[in-house]
Amino acid sequence: MTNPSLLILPGDGIGPEVMAEVRKVIDWFGANGGPVFDVSEDLVGGCAYDAHGTPLHDDTMARAQEVDAVLLGAVGGPKYDSLDFSLKPERGLLRLRKEMDLYANLRPAQCFDALADFSSLKTEVVSGLDIMIVRELTSGVYFGEPRGIIEEGNERVGVNTQRYTESEIDRVARSAFELAMRRGKRLCSMEKANVMESGVLWREVVTQVGKDYPEVELSHMYADAGAMQLTRWPKQFDVIVTDNLFGDLLSDLAAMLTGSLGMLPSASLGAPMANGRPKALYEPVHGSAPDIAGQGKANPIACILSFAMALRYSFDRGEDAARVERAVETVLADGLRTADLLGEEGKAPVSTSEMGDAIVAALAKG
Ligand code: IPM
Ligand code: MG
Repeated sequence: MTNPSLLILPGDGIGPEVMAEVRKVIDWFGANGGPVFDVSEDLVGGCAYDAHGTPLHDDTMARAQEVDAVLLGAVGGPKYDSLDFSLKPERGLLRLRKEMDLYANLRPAQCFDALADFSSLKTEVVSGLDIMIVRELTSGVYFGEPRGIIEEGNERVGVNTQRYTESEIDRVARSAFELAMRRGKRLCSMEKANVMESGVLWREVVTQVGKDYPEVELSHMYADAGAMQLTRWPKQFDVIVTDNLFGDLLSDLAAMLTGSLGMLPSASLGAPMANGRPKALYEPVHGSAPDIAGQGKANPIACILSFAMALRYSFDRGEDAARVERAVETVLADGLRTADLLGEEGKAPVSTSEMGDAIVAALAKG
């Protein structure tokens, strides 16, 4: 049997630094009787633009379609701000999502006990928090046509189109219900059915799909009220399903409830491939943080936990995933903190690689 394949795309900014720590975890499993991966590495984002004049080379795109899973660091940086829209680093990521048809983006927001005090909300509001946002990732206003900046009379008009087909809503709703079945069996769908037709259709289709999942308690919320409820009492939620743009906003909000954006992983899943595995890309929720890149200040935990999600959702290695998650909890409980997790505490932070080494050491202990 051939080894499962992983394509690693470290990207820009802190991407390469945090990915170097993931490589340590992958190597540890390989050397200690865990899964062995065929790992290849390539460019995406600004670094791909620098090398090839495009944020994602066609060969890289083709490779991403072939592998069992893609692991991505982060893309973007101020250096690329003035590039044409079609050449921006973000377009590389969006092309991967679109062409791999990764329609279900799973973004867990989990509060680690050791960090509950670090949230900007009261500890009792966030301690033990464990919610999952399922964001539709391949449609909606991110991709809808027409789009552009057009001339109208004597001024310019910026145009984007929110658009959802029934089948696009149906498939992401099914992913969310399936997840809810494996968790707390509660699903809240968020849209703006009060002002948007796409929201009316969204609510209708999600309700229809819900009939196939009678055990899941389904509720609906307008996305603005959802944002308010997420900050008021987030523990009322189990799984949330929402569209691409609302999901972008609500997942940042949910992430920060837990104390640090630097902690949270994500999985972007598509339809099953011939081998039964879903097409999949895993990436931290945080961005490329160019202000701290190359200084050893970045927190590698979100990227390491993204690899744990790959173990769970692509490789059926739930036990190994849990082992990585436990190792992360252990080092946090031991008091290790990268700079983003320190606030006013006045302690000395550990570096990116010290954090990675500590997680590998905790892995070794079980
Ligand atoms: C995210 C990011 C991306 C998005 C950017 C980098 C294109 O904010 O993954 O949440 O808007 O989807
Ligand atoms: Mg975002």
